[in-house]
Amino acid sequence: MNKEPNDPLLMDHEADGIRELDNNLPRWWVWLFVLCTVFAVGYIVYYHVLRVGPLQAAEYQTEASQGLALKNAALARFESDLATLKPVSDSVVLEQGKQFFANLCAPCHRADGGGLVGPNLCDLDWSHGSNYVDTVKVIINGVAEKGMLSWRGVLKPAEIQAVASYIYTLRGSNPPDPKPPEDPSKPAVPMDFE
Ligand code: HEC
Repeated sequence: MNKEPNDPLLMDHEADGIRELDNNLPRWWVWLFVLCTVFAVGYIVYYHVLRVGPLQAAEYQTEASQGLALKNAALARFESDLATLKPVSDSVVLEQGKQFFANLCAPCHRADGGGLVGPNLCDLDWSHGSNYVDTVKVIINGVAEKGMLSWRGVLKPAEIQAVASYIYTLRGSNPPDPKPPEDPSKPAVPMDFE
């Protein structure tokens, strides 16, 4: 809308022929501004002056430790049932275990389980026991001094079950050019097939 040059709201200054009208700000805008200011003051006092509310970092820590507690509780339940654990033969679970093995374990144990840095998982030679539960324990705890990683807290119990069950299917599979036993003087342990 054109304003007359003598409009009382028109201000004195001018830039390249453009002049400014000193309109009042819309009511809703002013209220929004006031509310934001009040909120900001409340926020600063609550979080930074009185320090009543937890800041983002503290909130993150709380949630992360809750998550860790959940994970540890699940693992503890899993470990308390370890002694009776049996390999799973469900093909969906085994396929999932195979994927985990290919992604996480194959770099050290070779894609077919024949062994690289890590030992051959297909032969009769087991440094940490030949039964299924021994395998699960090694996967959970790792063997830090020998370079086997611990998967505690990295894989969920069901995932450990899946990958351990998959390894179990590799027993006796005789892949070509396998890594020789770590300790050839040790007698081979018979496999504990169910
Ligand atoms: C960084 C290399 C590395 C990765 C990754 C790795 N391992 Fe191992 N693993 C080893 C080494 C080294 C050993 C031998 C430990 C020993 O001699 O005590 C081993 C030992 C084992 C054993 C015990 C073998 C025995 O003779 O008793 C099992 C079972 C096993 N690994 C399973 C797995 C599974 C399952 C994964 C993947 C989730 C995995 N490993 C990932 C290096 C690795």
